[in-house]
Amino acid sequence: MSKQVFKPNKEFSKNARIKNMCEYQDLQDFAAEDYEGFWGSYAKEKLEWIEPFTNVLDESNAPFVKWFDGGKLNVSSQCIDRHLDSRKNKAAIIFEGDRGDKQIITYLELYYNVNKLANLLKEDFGVQKGDRVVIYMPMIPEAAYAMLACARIGAIHSIVFGGFSSEALKDRIEDAEAKVVITADGAYRKTKPYMLKPVVDAAIDENSPVKKVLVVERNNEDVTWVAGRDYSYNELIKNKSGVCEPEVMDAEDPLFLLYTSGSTGKPKGVQHNSAGYILWAQMTMEWVFDVKENDTYWCTADVGWITGHTYIVYGPLAMGATTVMFEGVITHPDAGRPWKMVEEHRINQFYTAPTAIRVLHKMGEHEPAKYDLSSLKVLGTVGEPIDPPAWKWYYEEVGASKCAIVDTYWQTETGGHVVSPLPGATPIKAGCATLPLPGIMAEILDPATGELAEPGETGYMCITRPWPSQIRGVWGDPERYIKSYFGDVKKDGKAVYFTGDGARYDEDGYITITGRTDDVINVSGHRMGTAEVEAAIKKHPNVAEVAVVGKPHDIKGEGIFAYIVLKSDKGVADEVEEVKAINKVIQKEIGNIALCDDMVFAPGLPKTRSGKIMRRILRAIAKGEEITQDISTLEDPSIVETISTMVNK
Ligand code: WTA
Repeated sequence: MSKQVFKPNKEFSKNARIKNMCEYQDLQDFAAEDYEGFWGSYAKEKLEWIEPFTNVLDESNAPFVKWFDGGKLNVSSQCIDRHLDSRKNKAAIIFEGDRGDKQIITYLELYYNVNKLANLLKEDFGVQKGDRVVIYMPMIPEAAYAMLACARIGAIHSIVFGGFSSEALKDRIEDAEAKVVITADGAYRKTKPYMLKPVVDAAIDENSPVKKVLVVERNNEDVTWVAGRDYSYNELIKNKSGVCEPEVMDAEDPLFLLYTSGSTGKPKGVQHNSAGYILWAQMTMEWVFDVKENDTYWCTADVGWITGHTYIVYGPLAMGATTVMFEGVITHPDAGRPWKMVEEHRINQFYTAPTAIRVLHKMGEHEPAKYDLSSLKVLGTVGEPIDPPAWKWYYEEVGASKCAIVDTYWQTETGGHVVSPLPGATPIKAGCATLPLPGIMAEILDPATGELAEPGETGYMCITRPWPSQIRGVWGDPERYIKSYFGDVKKDGKAVYFTGDGARYDEDGYITITGRTDDVINVSGHRMGTAEVEAAIKKHPNVAEVAVVGKPHDIKGEGIFAYIVLKSDKGVADEVEEVKAINKVIQKEIGNIALCDDMVFAPGLPKTRSGKIMRRILRAIAKGEEITQDISTLEDPSIVETISTMVNK
């Protein structure tokens, strides 16, 4: 890792919310000395309460915690209503469609659009507080209206990324027992229409808990309509009232579920609740992106992931910012698309994933120079470690060596950033997420002792005190919540939150994330559980056994490498056909995002005598590394040599 340190831009720091490391340290000290005082004062200052909270943090039932108990509020009001006095004509959302079509939605328009949809859900579909609504949408403003409309009436939304297959959608619908799905006929990608509604149709059968489907007509392609179940948003919305009183919600009422992969079993429904989540979404927008009143902020994520939730919709709107929503593909029509958008919309903060930076670098190294990018002040990255060459290009060519790069480390479960530079204060280093944000007790611990890891030693990235935007539970499975997050590391005898990531301190106490320690693969910043991919592949009738591991990939960060053992009587007749057939199963069960980069048809897998697959060995083989582990205890040590030869041939 480069040791070079880049100081914040002096001009920028002057007007930043946190201007230097002394101010950062003061905030850290405040939180360390009076944790509840710290969070309580921000909750009072930043949120508009219908009724004030009586208690800041209740840990009596830890790890099930409550923040701001007794307080009442509504998250959609935090994002819309409270801005109407001072910002009613300000752009809340700037939408750019795939084909370059543009739309500006002011805060007042957002208010009406959200309220109409809230009324529709209540009146026409009978959606009530606490009901689950699945949102399966393209990147269009109606996706944001749907989220906020649910929040307005107290329904719990669960967004399923539009790239997931009908099987994956079905699983998530059933786990959450959702009664409504909001979708679109489809949308556009690289100017061509693509479809979503048929996927929804395939996910719902007569036993489905879903009784109503609302369809936004975006590309107007032909779709099937099921009478009594499917309704056109464009029709129903016409005669709805634009006023809908927000439901009075408890601070700890659930706001949304978002399914994410873990190391075992099916994806889990990560639950976020109202007050704590929206507080940290807003505070991190203010601190980490330092968005100012007239700024235009763009996050390229999809609303189907947590980054889209917190940093396209909830965070920017909670602080009253202008957020850009983009339907298209950033490399289309060429790798200058994002820079053209930065120039046209005069974007001030740009937030994307290392995968995107690597693609843009590779496909359009000199594209940034063709556009006026002088409006940019802060560049962000998220989702995976960023490699120094990508970082350098981003810093120098996109940011003209004057913009801070905020390498934001966080997860679906943390709700918002937890380790990140502050653009006006923190000196930065390439590929380094730097320091915990004020109020977040993020520490790298030695899992064996629970002590702080020594500089240079890889330890476990933990958070040792609850924080407001913390995951509140795994939907329907409290045991899994405890087991997944509070089982591995103890500090002073007490179980602490473990992220699943490894990390190390450098000599300055800066944090570098080294990647997952569990069986989760990070493909283009998307989390895939090896167990999930394996379960999909096993559905193919010829497959006897399978083990999936991650393998470093130039663009995607990690690719998926599958070792497959076919049933003995089948043999591999035609490898190309076999790969195709297995890929088809993966597409059906999960979606294109889980397609394997490599498949090897092995005669067997390296296993311990108790039958445990040694993934560590398989990872090493996939990387082409020498096997240094002792393999003599394996059930069949010779299999290692056999597979290595197959992979390296
Ligand atoms: C990884 C995405 C290194 C990490 C917000 C984490 C990162 C997982 C970074 C969460 C970063 C996220 N540097 N690794 N800046 N940010 N990760 O839930 O492994 O989709 O556990 O949330 O992405 O992925 P998730």
